[in-house]
Amino acid sequence: MPDGQGSPAGAARVVDLLDLGAGHLRGAVDMPRREAARLLGEVLGLEEAQVYARTDEDVSERAELSYGQLIRRRADGVPTAYLVGRREFYGRSFEVDPRALVPRPETEHVVEAALECAGAGAKVLDLGTGSGCIAITMALERPGVSIVATDLSLGALAVASANCRRHEVEGRVRLVRADLVSALRLQAFDVVVSNPPYIAVGEWHSLMPEVRDHEPPEALFAGDGLDFYRRLFAAREWSEVGQRLVLEIGSGQLDAVRELAVHGGFAVEAVVLDLAAIARVVRLRRK
Ligand SMILES: C[S@@+](CC[C@H](N)C(=O)[O-])C[C@H]1O[C@@H](n2cnc3c(N)ncnc32)[C@H](O)[C@@H]1O
Repeated sequence: MPDGQGSPAGAARVVDLLDLGAGHLRGAVDMPRREAARLLGEVLGLEEAQVYARTDEDVSERAELSYGQLIRRRADGVPTAYLVGRREFYGRSFEVDPRALVPRPETEHVVEAALECAGAGAKVLDLGTGSGCIAITMALERPGVSIVATDLSLGALAVASANCRRHEVEGRVRLVRADLVSALRLQAFDVVVSNPPYIAVGEWHSLMPEVRDHEPPEALFAGDGLDFYRRLFAAREWSEVGQRLVLEIGSGQLDAVRELAVHGGFAVEAVVLDLAAIARVVRLRRK
């Protein structure tokens, strides 16, 4: 037995539960069998690959019940990351719950672009830290930097705090509740990084239910999609020539963000495409 519960007569086998779960998820998620294996692995304490290697083993009734609940919630659209309570980012595991956005793979490009301009000892500000994935990853990848990570949401800051403890960077990532640019008044920063909310409220209907019905709206929506950038570039708090700003942007927003940036006294240094060849990150320099 995968979970050590004994093997009662008539117990379901791993393969039966995989088939049942995948059938239930068909039409609701992109890769039903993989998701079913991931969730079954979660209740059995196994990696996905181990689940496929144990298809003939019996599963306890208790594990079967837990699995059934997870499958039903997943079919209802709850993101897997919220069901299992964590998500991989930049090769590390981050705790997540519905108070914080689930870290996305494309945001790893933000970290890379920010690391390129954060030298040893750099002071970094992460605006809208959510789970803390950008700030904490930067702290771990570049041990010399010190980071202030802000969010308006107390719930998100609680998740970020749990992740700081998990990755033992409490002393190097300072969490502050602050509204957007007010954080710039805290101290001078060499690099400001942000993956802000950038979806237009009008796009609500076109979003996947998994996103729009389960992730925090304050992490997703920003007026016409550009509100956050507008406020950022209009801020008077920017002071130092040479300050770097690294931003994640939404699909199709590059021209509008570039215009706002130039108007606000920034020059675009680099644009990074994501794996789908969409302009996803801009790196800017204060003129
Ligand atoms: C797109 S999420 C990014 C979270 C995380 N940095 C990531 O990349 O996964 C944006 C975050 O900005 C926060 N936020 C929204 N408006 C804000 C504001 N005016 N000031 C500070 N943070 C804000 C949200 O609470 C959310 O955590």
